[in-house]
Amino acid sequence: MSTQGQKVAVITGASQGIGAGVVDAYRKLGYGVVATSRSIGESQDRGVVAVQGDIADPATAERVIAAGLERFGRIDTVVNNAGLFVAKPFTDYTEDEYATVLGVNLAGFFRVTRLAVPHMLAQGGGHIVSITTSLVDHANSNVPSVLASLTKGGLQSATKSLAIEYATRGIRANAVSPGTIKTPMHPEETHEVLAGLHPVGRMGEVSDIVDAVVYLETAPFVTGAILHVDGGMSAGH
Ligand SMILES: NC(=O)c1ccc[n+]([C@@H]2O[C@H](COP(=O)([O-])OP(=O)(O)OC[C@H]3O[C@@H](n4cnc5c(N)ncnc54)[C@H](OP(=O)(O)O)[C@@H]3O)[C@@H](O)[C@H]2O)c1
Repeated sequence: MSTQGQKVAVITGASQGIGAGVVDAYRKLGYGVVATSRSIGESQDRGVVAVQGDIADPATAERVIAAGLERFGRIDTVVNNAGLFVAKPFTDYTEDEYATVLGVNLAGFFRVTRLAVPHMLAQGGGHIVSITTSLVDHANSNVPSVLASLTKGGLQSATKSLAIEYATRGIRANAVSPGTIKTPMHPEETHEVLAGLHPVGRMGEVSDIVDAVVYLETAPFVTGAILHVDGGMSAGH
């Protein structure tokens, strides 16, 4: 199959939930996709290369970028979607939880993105999208989750910093900040309570976040944006 000129997206946390939806959306946009997570299986689609690995492991980022270059010859977009959410009172967090959440949410972003940027620069442009959380800008006493704020808040700040550092070199950086989305992250029995956290009275769907990522991908004048897709949570209650 000729992949000449075909753009390529690396999508982390691609096995389920938001990440799996983002993979389908980039395929519809015509991109080749490198889809990665620990458990992801081979795809029947020749336009998708699956790479298994723990995103907290530096070797995974190396293998992901290498697989994209080998199959498609370029990297245009990185969607930093792999993420863990551990909600508990601050002093209950353990050292292990701290290391694990930072490893996935921050180190995963850092390594994959750092390896992708030189290829984007060589091609004259690219796009970095990170999935954060509305809790960064809207802490909720019912959902104590400092590790989410520490890591996803870092991603939001890094998004602005990357947007400015590369603004004149064709690389855009944006984030989508979701409310609570119906994915395997949330058991069915929690949905009613979670819906009530949103001014619109419902949880979000995977498609709500996917649409936002697609918008950002196709919006050449938008960089450094934190796009709130949260049923009004960031506006107030
Ligand atoms: N759902 C929500 O309400 C919500 C709200 C705000 C923000 N978000 C953010 O949106 C993103 C996606 O969430 P989701 O709800 O789709 O989550 P999910 O259904 O729990 O899926 C998480 C994905 O990340 C992968 N992953 C987890 N740990 C990993 C690791 N160590 N190494 C590599 N991959 C790993 C999982 O695959 P494997 O198990 O195969 O590794 C899976 O593909 C996350 O960053 C999350 O924080 C979600």
